[in-house]
Amino acid sequence: MATPHIEAEPGSIAPVVLLPGDPLRAEWIAENHLDDARQVTGVRNMLGFTGTVSGVPVSVMGSGMGVPSSAIYATELIRSYDVDRIIRVGSCGGLRSDVTLNQLILAIGAGTDSNINRARIGGHDFPAVADFDLLAAADEAARRRQVEVLVGTVFTSDLFYAPDGYYDAAAVHGMLAVEMETAGLYGVGAAEGARMLSILTVSDNLITGERLSTEDRQSGFDAMVAMALDVAVGTSEA
Ligand code: HPA
Repeated sequence: MATPHIEAEPGSIAPVVLLPGDPLRAEWIAENHLDDARQVTGVRNMLGFTGTVSGVPVSVMGSGMGVPSSAIYATELIRSYDVDRIIRVGSCGGLRSDVTLNQLILAIGAGTDSNINRARIGGHDFPAVADFDLLAAADEAARRRQVEVLVGTVFTSDLFYAPDGYYDAAAVHGMLAVEMETAGLYGVGAAEGARMLSILTVSDNLITGERLSTEDRQSGFDAMVAMALDVAVGTSEA
């Protein structure tokens, strides 16, 4: 049944969804990486597509930016469309000088300044962690493709324009990069009973001030999508 934010027909979304922030990225992934892709939803221009990869049904949909937007789409995908795996494919800003541009990060867990997970469990701390099987499949895909990945924690922030020094403590506590969705998605996965993983590419570095050009963003993005699709297909039943 359609939800407030997704108009897809019942059964038209695959059990596994790649979730980029930008709906035009979703369209690009559908056109370039899925076979027989067709658009299945477009409420608020938040485009979603379903196709196949190696014969396995896979969907891809935009999430918008930030915890509230991405949590809405993830919740509705799980509750109303029986999605059981969501793989975020997004960008992040490095919090250490050795986290280099185009580097891929598998987010094993996420700290956050968002209150969403505390709100779920009575103000207590919530362990926002990736699904182990998806993480292991992504790590294996990276080895097979000979793509270097960092496996570590990230910081999910509600602020894109943060005050100077805002992320220093996160970096001191080992967090590799900042982005805006992962901790919320990991909370949705736990609450709604779906498996979650964020795969991120470093698009900029907050310490060095470097940022990727538009063309260079594409190559890192391609490697990330290829790995995410390996995970999607590899964790689907034959
Ligand atoms: N902040 C938050 N999210 C991001 C950033 C950033 O600097 N870079 C890429 N995603």
